Amino acid sequence: MALITWTEEQFGTSVSTADEQHQELFDLLNTLHETIPGGDREEIGAKLDAFLDYVVMHFQTEEELMQSNGYPEYEAHKAEHDKLIATATEIQKGFKEEGKELSQDSTTFVKDWLTNHIPTIDRSYGPFLNEKGVS
Ligand code: FEO
Repeated sequence: MALITWTEEQFGTSVSTADEQHQELFDLLNTLHETIPGGDREEIGAKLDAFLDYVVMHFQTEEELMQSNGYPEYEAHKAEHDKLIATATEIQKGFKEEGKELSQDSTTFVKDWLTNHIPTIDRSYGPFLNEKGVS
């Protein structure tokens, strides 16, 4: 069973670019989660990099959309993104540079973060951006 599954009801934001990226993000996280038990370090490292690269790209996409449309909650939203990036970068560094193991606790932590962030903080920009013609 997948770690996280996208549904419109739970995760829809009414902004199609965000919804499409969230679905890809979930796919990459599920793949990483499934690779951890029994995967070799090189394979896990590649999937971790792919996931984090996508996270960074996705956050930039949202931040550009919010900033270019004058979204008033931009700073608070970006601060949440920055916190996750800092935590994820620490995990990546531990795995790649310090020889630490990567456990499914890490992917579960990210799943919990996304499950909280998208339906609340992301979804909040939907009506504002829709009003600006972004859908
Ligand atoms: Fe879709 Fe704010 O992350």
